[in-house]
Amino acid sequence: MEVVILPGSRQIGKLAADAIEALLRHKPGAVLGLATGSSPLPVYDELALRHERDGLDFSSAHAFALDEYVGLPPGHPQSYREVITREFTNRVDIRPENVHTPDGSAEDIPAECRAYEERMQAVGGVDLQLLGVGTDGHIGFNEPGSSLASRTRIKTLIEQTRRDNARFFAGLAEVPHHVVTQGLGTILEARHVVLVATGAQKAPAVRNFVEWPVAAVCPASVLQFHPHATILVDEAAASSLKLADFYRHTYEHKPGWQGL
Ligand code: GLP
Repeated sequence: MEVVILPGSRQIGKLAADAIEALLRHKPGAVLGLATGSSPLPVYDELALRHERDGLDFSSAHAFALDEYVGLPPGHPQSYREVITREFTNRVDIRPENVHTPDGSAEDIPAECRAYEERMQAVGGVDLQLLGVGTDGHIGFNEPGSSLASRTRIKTLIEQTRRDNARFFAGLAEVPHHVVTQGLGTILEARHVVLVATGAQKAPAVRNFVEWPVAAVCPASVLQFHPHATILVDEAAASSLKLADFYRHTYEHKPGWQGL
């Protein structure tokens, strides 16, 4: 796990976009794993800018979202399908048929979950997975207690997550209780994982998953098993890390050829 502490979300957006740009230039048909929430927005802004300004090409790329609410009608503005389209994929030249989100309104949810995993495998698996982290340590919608080997499946949201996400809805009552999410085992198969966390409210979760033992009670801690996980945090989100100075020192002295 590499922890990079940066001054703010603009720098985080640029560094994550550098990794995605390098991947696309080397492999134009790369498979990107997309996250929702506010943390990845600076990354999407930077990628949209590079597409517009430098012609960064997404026309052969594929994208898979991490998760989706269950029970929202198709086209609901807060469905993750709509959020991903609005915040990112509509702003670049990725082909709509190459953008995948789990169908939370499917009649047979277990069959949809299996099919989603198969669609990911059919294009060779995810090359780079962007992640945020919930205040309870969830990634995707894998809440505390999620199996560390889990695959795409239905989950029930913990109340803290429903409250955290109520800001996107008219009120708490409108936030669905159920979701479909890639599992922790699914996420671990991405070849490179880039997690973004900003703000003091994320500091306890960041400390827990980076420096505490791996445990299902803090699902993001499973990333300690990942051979190539990059954690991009601002100073506030890094403020509870015991080894912050070591992470800074390591990044400052990193050989330039290594990249992210
Ligand atoms: C939601 C998403 C997660 C995201 C989390 C944190 O629950 N399912 O993928 O990481 O929110 O969101 P934010 O970045 O807005 O804090």
